[in-house]
Amino acid sequence: KNSLLTMNDLSNEDIFSILNDARLFNSSYKGWQLPMPQALVANLFFEPSTRTHFSFESAQLQMGCKVVDFVAEVSSVAKGETLYDTARTFEAVGYNCLVIRHKRDEYFKELENIQIPIINAGDGAGNHPTQCLLDLLTMYNEFGRLDHLRVVIAGDILHSRVAHSDKQALERLGSTVVFAGPQEWERPGYPTMDFDKAVEWADVVMMLRIQKERGAAIQGMSDAEYLEKYGLTKARYQRMQDHAIICHPAPVNRGVEIDTDLVEAEKSRIFTQMSNGVLVRRAVIKRAFGFKPFEERK
Ligand code: CP
Repeated sequence: KNSLLTMNDLSNEDIFSILNDARLFNSSYKGWQLPMPQALVANLFFEPSTRTHFSFESAQLQMGCKVVDFVAEVSSVAKGETLYDTARTFEAVGYNCLVIRHKRDEYFKELENIQIPIINAGDGAGNHPTQCLLDLLTMYNEFGRLDHLRVVIAGDILHSRVAHSDKQALERLGSTVVFAGPQEWERPGYPTMDFDKAVEWADVVMMLRIQKERGAAIQGMSDAEYLEKYGLTKARYQRMQDHAIICHPAPVNRGVEIDTDLVEAEKSRIFTQMSNGVLVRRAVIKRAFGFKPFEERK
């Protein structure tokens, strides 16, 4: 079964195959659809989402899938049904693939008996593999390589599944990833660098929002003070290298981790990342349904 739960499910070769397919979905394979009359996919989002949910849906519809969106509040989860029984039910009634986001770290460990592929759309502060793939595609398109890149990820590292997945993949691919932000949000084993130094050093400056829904809070500091101390201000932007880019998984809290005017600044790739999300998700769905990577190299 071709599930994608963490970046460790993919070899470096698998990563490049997915990125190659994603690029081809933007060129010669734009109209490619799954050669199956009934590819039933269910999107089970137990946490709020805009980008991941609806870019998966866009990708699924472009691929010719039949898609249903599950709403926990009006399902039998409200009567106490477990995640396993919910997933097992979708499998039993004929769905072929599940996309799941859940607040529990590694929720997928309790779904090992499910035989249909599961694509992880985010587990707590654990993993966000398709966000990582779209980040990789954005960097690959920009720099033509994924090794020897210098990446700083700044902000609420402790609660960030994006930080975890990106570190895992980028380091394995031969890039250097450092972290910056408030000391209380550092993570053991995550190398730190002073943010003012890092913005001058980095090829990629990736900003993260404060994940208040996971209990993150900075006491006694206004948004403006947080921006000045830890965020990407216009002054720091001016000190980035000419070729460097800004990334952000979004949603953005404008005026907190990033100056609002920088969200669509020349160096920003924030909305490009979102477009790339649809392409990599098409590639991941194709893989989930057992189709091999395209042979054409892009
Ligand atoms: N980047 C991301 O996961 O955004 P959503 O929470 O809107 O899906």
